[in-house]
Amino acid sequence: MTLNSPRFKACFNPFLEEDPEFDLPSEEALDFHRSMSEYLPTPLLSLPGLADELGVGQILVKDESHRFGLKAFKILGASYAMYRLVRKLWEEEGDFDLAAFHRGELPGRLDSLTFAAASDGNHGRAVAWMARRLRKKAVIFVPEGTVEARVSAIRAEGAEVVFHGRTYDDAVRSAAEEAGKRSWTVVSNTAYEGNTEVPGWMVDGYGTLFEEAEEQIREQVLSEPDIVFVQAGVGGLAAAAIRNSYAEEEGPRIVCVEPVEADGLLESASTEDGRIAPSKGCHDSIMAGLNCATPSLTAWPVVKAGADYFLAVDDVFAEEAMGRFYFPSTGDPRIVAGESGAAGLAGLFALCRKPELEEDRNGLELDEDSTILAVNTEGDTDPESFRRRIDKGS
Ligand SMILES: Cc1ncc(COP(=O)(O)O)c(C=O)c1O
Repeated sequence: MTLNSPRFKACFNPFLEEDPEFDLPSEEALDFHRSMSEYLPTPLLSLPGLADELGVGQILVKDESHRFGLKAFKILGASYAMYRLVRKLWEEEGDFDLAAFHRGELPGRLDSLTFAAASDGNHGRAVAWMARRLRKKAVIFVPEGTVEARVSAIRAEGAEVVFHGRTYDDAVRSAAEEAGKRSWTVVSNTAYEGNTEVPGWMVDGYGTLFEEAEEQIREQVLSEPDIVFVQAGVGGLAAAAIRNSYAEEEGPRIVCVEPVEADGLLESASTEDGRIAPSKGCHDSIMAGLNCATPSLTAWPVVKAGADYFLAVDDVFAEEAMGRFYFPSTGDPRIVAGESGAAGLAGLFALCRKPELEEDRNGLELDEDSTILAVNTEGDTDPESFRRRIDKGS
């Protein structure tokens, strides 16, 4: 492992399998999203100016800050998982009716349904949004330090917010406990013992953004990506990227980017046998959506078998990437990226610039011919801190 504490850590994946067996990405998720009246694909943008500066061939950015007016990709997972959950309960006693589902007209026997979720912002807002669309209650457990803007956004969807514990992992535990006591239905984006089905649907839902990107690449006659830089919290989004990559004949290599203070994937990849190992960091990164210590029980096996490289970066890289998205190189479009949204680009900065990573660049074949795909997973979900950081970089 390359280690230059505290700025970055990196390692190739020692557990990478040549021919891993994954479930193929579910086309059903894209079909479901297309059936929602709010659905619109998010833009795929090209940044030739920045590509020139970093010495790579092309940089493409899938801009999820425009997703459903919620400023983050998370609703792709929450909407699909909640659709699958409700459909399953509905079908226990009758035929599922998609049009009625979309109108929020659920059968009377589902009246008592209350959704519970743990989140540090985006997932909670997405679950609350979807619960409101279904005319159901949502209770969202957030760590105590969650910023006011994110809490207000969840409350604005009509959900109850419960503060619990210091970290995201604490909130996950208390959401599970409380939901168990009160017969609430947990919509978790991370899988743990006894809760694996919903997080699996969540990953299926995230797959939509990669399916869209593939279609946009074909339509805009762009080069296929050679490397995808995907930011990771519990690893669900990374698992979706990996599954889409393996669904292609020669899919892109996958670089998972995490904060150095919440590097559960890198930590797990560093164990002798590749078992899940929580990050030893203090989980206080500004990349709030990535501040998760423990990888998801079901996402990790996919990441372990299919990710090429793990890279954990310091917050300063994320701040710089936010600034570079907002004040672009000549000719590049402006992108509004929150701290976690900019993390993929932050990883690209670290990899392109650090002399210590030259061998790793070669190993990944990252050079002037490479096409990079990064995902801006969120916009300014905390507008005040966004403005502060952007003003610093102007
Ligand atoms: C903005 C943002 N980006 C990336 C992620 C990481 O997704 P995952 O936890 O599935 O790895 C999250 C998770 O909440 C997020 O909110």
